Amino acid sequence: MAKKVLIVYGTRYGATESTSEEIAKVLRDAGIDTTLINIGREKVKDVSAYDMVIVGSGMRMGKWTGAAEDFLKKYKKELSQKKMAIFVSSAAEALMKYDKNNEELEKIKKQYLEDKAAQNGLNPISMVIFGGVWDYNKMSFIFRKTMSPFKIKIEEAGFKEVSPGLYDTRDWDVIRNWAKEIAAKV
Ligand SMILES: Cc1cc2nc3c(=O)[nH]c(=O)nc-3n(C[C@H](O)[C@H](O)[C@H](O)COP(=O)(O)O)c2cc1C
Repeated sequence: MAKKVLIVYGTRYGATESTSEEIAKVLRDAGIDTTLINIGREKVKDVSAYDMVIVGSGMRMGKWTGAAEDFLKKYKKELSQKKMAIFVSSAAEALMKYDKNNEELEKIKKQYLEDKAAQNGLNPISMVIFGGVWDYNKMSFIFRKTMSPFKIKIEEAGFKEVSPGLYDTRDWDVIRNWAKEIAAKV
């Protein structure tokens, strides 16, 4: 029987959704029965049928989406006894790499992933930070103002607008390769 994977994600600006869809595509291509849930819109009733659960969230001001965080909390007992992996979408990571600020990047990894896993008693087989999007069109007035200095930084880091006001710092090869590694471990 085909192995079953559940991908649960929380998103505010859409990056974690399209990243999750790409991960699902790689898993399905590998013959894995993959269910994709946007936890902000749909509920999960049970995780027992799945061989593995992947949980993803976008980051904003250092925070996971409430829905993805609630999912981790609600299912922490089941997830602690199951193969699971977590990822976050973060535009900041590309900037740290550009600044070669490894110390800060390690801090971010700890804060966004390792601490989150530890808080919920989880021992993921993989924890990873992917890139994300900065969409100035979708930000509230106050966030657009707060984030406007990053526009210069992100351009300095070599990212061009995909369309007016939209930057995408994801490396799709990194995402696909990670999904292939996961597929081999299900
Ligand atoms: C207002 C705002 C705040 C952000 N804060 C952070 C942050 O604290 N850390 C980070 O790594 N990325 C931050 N980002 C970048 C997001 O992680 C990026 O937009 C990502 O795509 C969010 O995931 P989502 O598109 O699935 O919502 C921020 C983006 C915005 C618009």
